[in-house]
Amino acid sequence: MRLIPPTSRRVFLRDLSRSSLAMSAAASVLTYPTKGQDSTSVKDPNRSDANPRVATGEQGVVATVNPLASQAAMQAFQRGGNAIDAAVAASLMLSVVDGHNSGIGGGCLALVYPADGRVVALDGREMAPGGASPEMFFRAGQPAPELSQLGPLAAGVPGLLATLERLSREHGQIDWNDALLGAAEVADAGFVISEHFARVLRNSAGDLKRFPASARVLLDESGQPWSNGHLLRQPDLAQTLRQIAEQGIAWFYQGEFAERAATHLREAGGVMAASDFANYKTLARRAIQTQYRGDSVIGFPPPSSGGIHDAQMLGMLAEFDVAGIFAESQARGLHLLLEVMKRAMADRAYWLGDADFAKVPRGLLDQDYLRQLASTIDLSRATEVKSHGQPPRAELDLFGQRKHTTHLTAADARGNVVAITQTVNTSFGCKMIVPGTGVVLNNEMDDFSIAPGVRNAFGLLGSEANVIAPGKRPLSSMSPTIVLDGDRKPILSCGAAGGPKIITAVLQLLVRVLDLDESLEQAIAAPRVHHQWSPDVAVCENALNDQTVEQLANMGHRIQRIGSAAVAQGMAMHRIAGHAPQLTAASDPRVASSAMGL
Ligand code: DON
Repeated sequence: MRLIPPTSRRVFLRDLSRSSLAMSAAASVLTYPTKGQDSTSVKDPNRSDANPRVATGEQGVVATVNPLASQAAMQAFQRGGNAIDAAVAASLMLSVVDGHNSGIGGGCLALVYPADGRVVALDGREMAPGGASPEMFFRAGQPAPELSQLGPLAAGVPGLLATLERLSREHGQIDWNDALLGAAEVADAGFVISEHFARVLRNSAGDLKRFPASARVLLDESGQPWSNGHLLRQPDLAQTLRQIAEQGIAWFYQGEFAERAATHLREAGGVMAASDFANYKTLARRAIQTQYRGDSVIGFPPPSSGGIHDAQMLGMLAEFDVAGIFAESQARGLHLLLEVMKRAMADRAYWLGDADFAKVPRGLLDQDYLRQLASTIDLSRATEVKSHGQPPRAELDLFGQRKHTTHLTAADARGNVVAITQTVNTSFGCKMIVPGTGVVLNNEMDDFSIAPGVRNAFGLLGSEANVIAPGKRPLSSMSPTIVLDGDRKPILSCGAAGGPKIITAVLQLLVRVLDLDESLEQAIAAPRVHHQWSPDVAVCENALNDQTVEQLANMGHRIQRIGSAAVAQGMAMHRIAGHAPQLTAASDPRVASSAMGL
C-alpha cells in the first residue's frame, strides 16, 4: 500500500462532440430491464432520447431528472437569478412533475458552495412527530414494518419547502414567487405522463387506491392508474403553490395546510399534530470536508450517512494506488471499491443516526482508523466483514451534538454551486395525498431503524443510534457532494437517488473523475457496483460486462445483477486562467433526465 500524489492531469471538460460520442457509446452498451428488487428508476425503452444528458453553459447549468424542471431552472437564470434560484425553481417544479420521487410533502439535504466560499449545509430532512415513539411500529409485540412504509404513521414532518424558502431568502437573488407560480401553472395546465411515471404509478396503484384523496388525483374514475400520454392536471397542488406564493410558508407550517394534514393523518390513525409542523426547522449543519488527492470533498454530515461514509471510503482508498489498480484490471479496481463499501456500510449500520440524538463518533473519519480498516483489505479475495469497526474516542468526540428521491445540481458563472437531494422516500411516499392540497406525504419514518434485525425498504439494518424519538430525523443516505480544488474553487458537484446505492454511486463518481480522469458524463454513465455490508452481496449492474462480474465472483463475491444502481446528476466546472469558468452539467442516461445550460 502506498499513498499516491494528487492527480496531475484532470480533464473535466472534454470537447463536447467527444463527450457526446462517449455518452452514446456508453449508453449503447447499457441494458436496462431491472432484475430483482430495485427501487430506482430504470431506463424507459420507449422514451425518446431527445433530452440532452450533457450541457455546457456560460451563465449557468443545471441537471435534473426531468426536462420541465431543468427548464424552470433556465427560466430562473434568464430572470437574473443565480444557481440557488435555479435550483429552487427546479426543485419546486419536480414537486409537480416528479411527485413519485420528491415534493413539498418530503424533505431534502441541500449543500451550497456560494461564490463567497462559505460552505452551507441545510438539513431539510423530515422530522419524527412529537407523538412518535420506538413502539409505534409494533403490533402485538411484533415489528410491523409495513406501517412505516404505507399510511398515516409513515410520514415525517416535511422539510423541503422550509429549506427552499431559506435557500432562496439567504442565498438567492430573485423572488421565489415566480418559481412557485411557474410550478403552479404546470400543475394547473398539466404535464404528459411518461412511460416511466406510468410504470411507477402502475406499481403503486394498489396502495394508492386505499386512500381516496390520492386516488382522485392519480387514478382514473374506475380506479385504474393513468397511463403513458395522459395529461395529468393537479389543480389542488396548483392552489397550494399559489397560497404559498401569497401567504408564505407560514400557510404550510403554521396555517391551513398544517391543520388539514394533521387532521387527515390523525383521522386515519396517525400521530402527527399541527404543532409538529409549527415546530419544524431547517437546520444549518457543519459540512464534512475531506482531503482526497489534493482536492477537498465536501459532504453532508448526519443525519446523512453519505458524507461520513463517502469520506471513510475515500480515506481507505487514499491508502491505495487506485488508478494503477484499475489500470491493471477493472475487476480488481471494482473489488477494491466493494471492499471499502462493505467496511464503511458496516459502520453505518452500527454507529449512524441523527447526531443531535445519537453519539456519532468523529473518530469514524480518523485517518489512522481508516488506515487500519484499509489494512484488512485483501486485493485478491473478498473478505468477510463480521462487524462494525471501533473508531477512536467513540464516547468523547462526537458529531454535532447540540444538546423515491432525486438529485439536482445547478451552478453559475459567478461560482455558486448547489447540490440538492430531495425525496418522499419510496415511490409516492406513504401514498397519502392531503385532501384538497395535492401534496404527497413522505414515508420517511421507514428510514429509522424500527427494531433490531428488521430491514427497511432498502434492506438496511440499523442500531440504537437510529431508533425513533420525537423530533429526531431519520438517518439518510442522501449524499449531495461538492469538490473544491487546492485553491478552494469548485470543480465538481454530484449526488444521486437510490437509497444506500446513493453513497456508493457518489464514491464511484468521485473515483472515476478524481482517480481515473474520466469526464463527469463518462463517470455517470459507467456501470456501477454496490455493497451495503448486509446482505453480503456484491450488486452489479447488468451493464457491467460478464467477464468482470465472473472475475469478481472468482474473488469470492456473492453476485446479484440488477438493472440500475442509483440515478446520478452532476456538474463540472473547468477553469482556464483569465477566462470565465466553463460549466458542464451531466445527467443520468438511466432515466429520461435532462441537462441544460445557458
Ligand atoms: O434518505 C434516504 O436515504 C432515502 N429516503 C432515500 C430514498 C431514495 O433514494 C429513493 N430513491 N430511489
